[in-house]
Amino acid sequence: MRVYFMGDIHGNHYALEACLRHLSHLKVDAVYCLGDLVGWLPFGDRTLKRMRSLGFPTVAGNHDLLVAGRFTDYPTQLDRMQATAYNSGLLSTVEGAIDYLSYLPLFLEGEDFIVTHHSPFSLPEAGESPTIEHFDYLDEATLAQCLPAWRNFSRRLIFSGHDHIPAVYELPETPRLPRFEDVRVYRPVNDDALTIHLNPQSRYWIKAGSIGGPYRDDVPMANSVLYDSDRKTVTLFRLSYPRAPLYQELLSHHFIGNLPTIRRYMDLLNR
Ligand SMILES: [Fe+2]
Repeated sequence: MRVYFMGDIHGNHYALEACLRHLSHLKVDAVYCLGDLVGWLPFGDRTLKRMRSLGFPTVAGNHDLLVAGRFTDYPTQLDRMQATAYNSGLLSTVEGAIDYLSYLPLFLEGEDFIVTHHSPFSLPEAGESPTIEHFDYLDEATLAQCLPAWRNFSRRLIFSGHDHIPAVYELPETPRLPRFEDVRVYRPVNDDALTIHLNPQSRYWIKAGSIGGPYRDDVPMANSVLYDSDRKTVTLFRLSYPRAPLYQELLSHHFIGNLPTIRRYMDLLNR
């Protein structure tokens, strides 16, 4: 079975279309979206309509839920809040869009994998509503705390997005409780695809990276993942897309284009 994972589109329809063209040549059995269809770029209406029409199973990202008004952001996240407010207004003019985002599930499960935007170890309890605190980032200390739960987790593979840095984390079988030093990390170099052959004794957490950016590894390419369960491989793809028209659209968009986070993003697009 071949399963494709894509997410963190963030309104970048140029990158999304490049991914969909690539996907059309891959012959896959299933496609999952890892969330954050909207947020950051001021074109969430385009990516939401496109993804909703495709009907891929999709989990909720923090930006999707922020835009839908399910919870509020940290007061320190000024740029993110402004991008959220803009997209929330924009999407309130698209019929059903806010409801669509509101009711996305927080996780989905396949035979041997779970799909979630951030972490299966940071989900709300049953009956608890999500908050922005369920979407903190996975630093070394947080990952180390997850290790006992990860080792005993019901699914061997985790596919997630959120941090916008593509990587495969491998947790090998250890005779004792695992430590942070046991975790092996594989990252694509520059614009090359990276294929990892899965060891049947190990567990893997695959971070797909972002289709649309902002690109926190400073590589302005659309990221996605293919899992081939027959070949026992995971491939991280990097795809180029037309960045100049996106840059021009952002340049003429003064409200979002003036946010410092988007200024840095535009500098990267233009490099
Ligand atoms: Fe994101």
